[in-house]
Amino acid sequence: MIGTGYVGLTTGVCFAHLGHHVICQDIDEKKIQKLKNNENVIYEPDLDAFIHNGLKSGNLEFTHDMAKAVQQSDIIFICVNTPPKPDGHADLKYVEQVARDIAKHMNGYKVIIDKSTVPIRTAEKVKETINKYSKGDFKFDIVSNPEFLREGHAVYDILHPNRIVIGVENARSRDMMLELYTSFQNTPIKITSIKSAELIKHGANTFLATKISFANLIAEVCESAGANAKEVLEAIGLDERIGKYFLNPGIGFGGSCFPKDIKAFKKTLEIFGINHSLIDSIEDINNRAVDRFIKKIEKELWVLDGKRIAVLGLAFKPNTDDIRNSPAIKIIDALKKEGAKICAHDPKAMEKAKEIFNDIDYADNFYECVRGCDALVLCTEWDEYKKIDFNELKKLLITPIIFDGRNIIDKKIASDNGFVYFGIGG
Ligand code: UGA
Repeated sequence: MIGTGYVGLTTGVCFAHLGHHVICQDIDEKKIQKLKNNENVIYEPDLDAFIHNGLKSGNLEFTHDMAKAVQQSDIIFICVNTPPKPDGHADLKYVEQVARDIAKHMNGYKVIIDKSTVPIRTAEKVKETINKYSKGDFKFDIVSNPEFLREGHAVYDILHPNRIVIGVENARSRDMMLELYTSFQNTPIKITSIKSAELIKHGANTFLATKISFANLIAEVCESAGANAKEVLEAIGLDERIGKYFLNPGIGFGGSCFPKDIKAFKKTLEIFGINHSLIDSIEDINNRAVDRFIKKIEKELWVLDGKRIAVLGLAFKPNTDDIRNSPAIKIIDALKKEGAKICAHDPKAMEKAKEIFNDIDYADNFYECVRGCDALVLCTEWDEYKKIDFNELKKLLITPIIFDGRNIIDKKIASDNGFVYFGIGG
C-alpha cells in the first residue's frame, strides 16, 4: 500500500486482517514511526486494534522505504492523495511520483492498482509513466479498484462492501485480483474495463451528493411554503427506486470526498465538452444549505457582537475527527466575524479544530460547552448529542434557543420543554 491516508491505511490493515502480508509505505517518516509504535494517527473505529493485531501477527509492516515496498510486493496499491487544484481538477502529482518510483524499483511482474479516487483515464497515464521511467524489461498490469469506504465506518465498509469493482485489461491481473478478494464470496464483484471502474467511483459520489442536495432543495421549499421536509422526504424515500438513504437535509455535505470529487467530475465533463450545470446546482444548493442556517442564527439572535454561542460538533460527520470542509468551520467563521464568542465541543475533532481556531473556547463535555451561552448551535449528529437532557440544558443556557443543523432533536419535544427550536426544512 503506497500512502497511509484513510484509504491506504485502512485497506492495508484490513487485508492484513484477512491473512495477506501487507507492507504499508508512506513518505511521512514521523507517521510511519507512530504506526510502528501503534500510536493513533487517525480516529477510526476498530483501526487501532486491527493495527495492533496485524503488527503482532507479522502480517502488517510499516515502512518509509519505497524500494522495499515495491520489490517485496506482487500487488501494489496506489493510495496517495489527489487534492483539488485551484481549477477543481484533481492534482495527480503524487500519483505520478509514485508511478515513477514504482518504475525505478521494479524487479519482476507486478499488478499496480489505482485505489485513490482519480479521474477517468488516469490509469492510462500511470501505465505510460511506468513504461517511460522503467529501467528493466519487467512486465506489469494496471488495475482500477476504487474504494467506497465511508470515514467513520472504514473498517466495517472494507470488510462488508456492497460491491467490489475491478477494472482490468487482461485475465492475468483479473485472476490475481480475484485471488486477493477470495474471502469476499458473498459480495458482488463487478469486473469492468479500467475506464469504467474509474468512472464508477466519481459517478457514485456525484449521485450521492445529488441526493443530499435534492433533500436540501426540498428543505428550502418546505421552509418557504410551510411544509415539513422530514415528512416529505421520508415519503419520497419509501419508493424503492429512490430509497431512503442520503435524503437527510442538513447544513450540507463536507469532508474530503464529495466536495473534491464533484469538482473533479465537473472538470472531466468540461474536458469532454459536456454541460455540467447539474454539478453547479449540486454545489450551489450545498453552499446555500449552510448559508441559510447562518442567516437563521443571525436573524433570531439579532446582534451577535458579544453573544456567547455553543457550537456542538466540529467534525464534518460523526465518528471521525476529520474537519476538512466541515460546515461547522464555515459557521464558526461567520459567527466570529459578527463578534460572537464561541465555545465549541466535539468528542473527537477538537485537537484538529485547535489548529484552525486558537481564539475560541473549547469545552471537555457538552454541558460545559453550553454553560452561560445565548444559544446552542448543533453541527454534527454525534450519538451523545441525541441524548440531551433538556432540564439540565435549560439551567445552563442563558436563553433556551437551539439551532439544530442535523435535525437530531425532536422539534415538538424541544418546544414542550420550553425551547425555541430551529431545525432544517420546517
Ligand atoms: C463518501 C462516500 O459515502 C463513500 O462511499 C466514498 O468511498 C467516500 O466518500 C470517498 O470518496 O472516499 P464520506 O465522505 O466518508 O464517504 O462520508 P459520507 O458518509 O458519505 O458523508 C458525506 C457528507 O454528506 C457528510 O458531510 C454528511 O454529513 C453528509 N450527508 C450525508 C448529508 O448531509 N445528508 C445525508 O443524507 C447523508
